[in-house]
Amino acid sequence: MFEFEGKVAVITGAASGFGRAFAEKGASLGMKLVLADVNPEALAQTVDALRAGGAEAIGVPTDVSDAARVEALAQAALDAFGKVHLLFNNAGVGSGGFLWESTANDWAWVFNVNVMGVAHGVRAFTPIMLRQNEPAHIVNTASVAGLLSPPAMGIYNASKHAVVSLTETLYHDLQLAQAGSTEGGTVGCSLLCPAFVPTGIADAERARPADLRNDSRPTRSQIAAGKQLQRAVQSGKLTAADVAEITFEAIAARRFYIVTHPGIMATVKLRHEDIEQLRNPTDPMSLKPEVKNAG
Ligand SMILES: NC(=O)c1ccc[n+]([C@@H]2O[C@H](COP(=O)([O-])OP(=O)(O)OC[C@H]3O[C@@H](n4cnc5c(N)ncnc54)[C@H](O)[C@@H]3O)[C@@H](O)[C@H]2O)c1
Repeated sequence: MFEFEGKVAVITGAASGFGRAFAEKGASLGMKLVLADVNPEALAQTVDALRAGGAEAIGVPTDVSDAARVEALAQAALDAFGKVHLLFNNAGVGSGGFLWESTANDWAWVFNVNVMGVAHGVRAFTPIMLRQNEPAHIVNTASVAGLLSPPAMGIYNASKHAVVSLTETLYHDLQLAQAGSTEGGTVGCSLLCPAFVPTGIADAERARPADLRNDSRPTRSQIAAGKQLQRAVQSGKLTAADVAEITFEAIAARRFYIVTHPGIMATVKLRHEDIEQLRNPTDPMSLKPEVKNAG
């Protein structure tokens, strides 16, 4: 079992949605918190609220797409608390619409945050965790969009598939690197794949940097995808707090795959069967109602 009390958690994208819920859950378990977000005002509000509730927390404004800032985040965590036991590579953004209508800026923004942000987190924190020789764990937030490829969200799907593969490989690499190491000193990892949950994700554009904004107006497919995302997110049945609860249970048990909406698994199986039987891909949105509520 992974013990949380008194341990140090670093959370990216901590000022909203899942990240904030992870922080609240960690605080309730007596963890020390290092919260990172690209939005400094929302981050300061989150840190203040947690401190008002008695938590030991610091905020480090961080753009996870910037390798140097993520390394500075790791150093800030060590300066404040000396160790890092739990890392949530959680910050993420999305943009929708037909693939061929997406701009180079759309690709750069989403991949810089969703993929490179996780990569920088893994690079900066895993060596620290391995050196500590104490139980430690990394949770990468992917999505059901890392297991399925719904239409009109191709960049997001591709970025989350990258997070799935990156994290499965991290699992294998950690196993190899720690083969024969002493009991208790192990670094583990988990892959979080939620479906749609009401958070700020449908309004992710608020975090897009000025230099990656589009000059052109959104196309019809982009407007439709934005509306569909708003509806799907708002209709999500689980809350961010529910997702945090499920995630902490999985970390405690050191479980790798964290699928918060198990109704989605029949569609994942169908996708795998399409591949195995060389069938053309089934549109996941044409299937079960659960998939319409997947994200
Ligand atoms: N809500 C859903 O339905 C859903 C489903 C599956 C996966 N996810 C994933 O969950 C993660 C968290 O998203 P959420 O739903 O809580 O959304 P959210 O918008 O509520 O929270 C995301 C946070 O990340 C921050 N952020 C954005 N760009 C950043 C950057 N470059 N550096 C640091 N912080 C940055 C934002 O300021 C925001 O506070 C994301 O990776 C998202 O893709 C969300």
